[in-house]
Amino acid sequence: MKLLPVIFLLALTAATSALDNGLMRTPPMGWMSWERFRCNVNCENDPKNCISENLFRDMADRLAEDGWKEMGYDHVMIDDCWSSMLRDKDGRLQPDPQRFPGGIAKLARYLHDRGLKLGIYGDLGTHTCGGYPGTTLDKIETDAQTFASWGVDFLKLDGCYSNEEDQQKGYPLMSKALNATGRPIGYSCSWPAYRGGLPPSVNYTLLGEICNLWRNYDDIQDSWNSVQDITDWFFDNQEILQPEAGPGRWNDPDMLIIGNFGLSVDQSRSQMALWAIMAAPLIMSNNLRTLSSEARAILQNRAAIAINQDPMGVQGRRLLQERSLIEVYWRPLSQSASALVFLSRRQDMPYQYHTSLAKLNYTAGSYEAYDVFTGKTLSGLSATTEFTVSINPSGVVMWYVYPKMHYEDPQDDGAELRLHRVR
Ligand code: GLA
Repeated sequence: MKLLPVIFLLALTAATSALDNGLMRTPPMGWMSWERFRCNVNCENDPKNCISENLFRDMADRLAEDGWKEMGYDHVMIDDCWSSMLRDKDGRLQPDPQRFPGGIAKLARYLHDRGLKLGIYGDLGTHTCGGYPGTTLDKIETDAQTFASWGVDFLKLDGCYSNEEDQQKGYPLMSKALNATGRPIGYSCSWPAYRGGLPPSVNYTLLGEICNLWRNYDDIQDSWNSVQDITDWFFDNQEILQPEAGPGRWNDPDMLIIGNFGLSVDQSRSQMALWAIMAAPLIMSNNLRTLSSEARAILQNRAAIAINQDPMGVQGRRLLQERSLIEVYWRPLSQSASALVFLSRRQDMPYQYHTSLAKLNYTAGSYEAYDVFTGKTLSGLSATTEFTVSINPSGVVMWYVYPKMHYEDPQDDGAELRLHRVR
């Protein structure tokens, strides 16, 4: 109990000011259609996988029935290619009538009845990236009102087919328009991704005030190369990006592709671990109907999720890039805990990496480490204890580290409970 005021203070000081809609105090979690299902509108030949209300209802059923919702994955997010090519007679966006015959409001009710939230996609510009009607400046209020009237809970606003000036006006205007609807709607801005992701072209102070999350960089693709490229960009720019994240305002390195075709089991663990360190939104884009048990276990790993969802909301950093091609990542967590990720960029065999917590900037003390992917606990670590971790090629070892002294509890029931408390 003594720790509570400290945690409260930390939570207050960690956050810079964020969009004042009270939403997404921890990174949002859920499922989104784009990376896996793209702009497949061919429902005649591919009815199970085309962008239609059936796809989103199916994914909602999976989230609600297969344990995802309980783990925090509570958003179903429609990406591009949902709308009709024409606005209605009153100038409002409307869903494609063949693929969404029930309409979006009905789909939102279906989700809400299952304790889930609905996300939708729009694009500030003349067209969406897939060529569907966009939201020009004069349509911002109409579209915000339409989404709210349907019961939408989240908007991803893309930026294809607009210029710098339109974006400068449009992203703040949409934020205001969403607030004016009176419905809490999480707001994801693709703005920085269209401006190179870095200052001076990108103003992260402003973004934090108007958006809950923002895409900073390129789209993820179904490959380990893509995961590495994104990871490198985010951590190469950590001096700029890391301080911008906090409760209600997150950097978004794009969707989780675990469960698709491009990643091995080790690489899947690596994406999960790195996204947890980055305090990234955990938005899967995969086929929840046919997920392998390995993919499911990684995506539903309680410790990795607890680390990602840590209430302090401080984004982690890359500490080291060794000549051996081992990299070490670290994220501070509440209750004086922290997460460590040892990533191997090698392509030969498991690598035995020797280090100590002191070498990773930990202060003197007694620690325990819970191995997130094996479930084993390492006790009796002092800062200077030398240890060795065996890291698979393109794989990770991920630790949840906590000081022993805070938990001298005769009823000590191990790391599982502490992780529970962290959540
Ligand atoms: C852009 C976005 C993607 C996706 C597509 C849809 O490329 O960055 O995430 O929304 O548009 O067309």
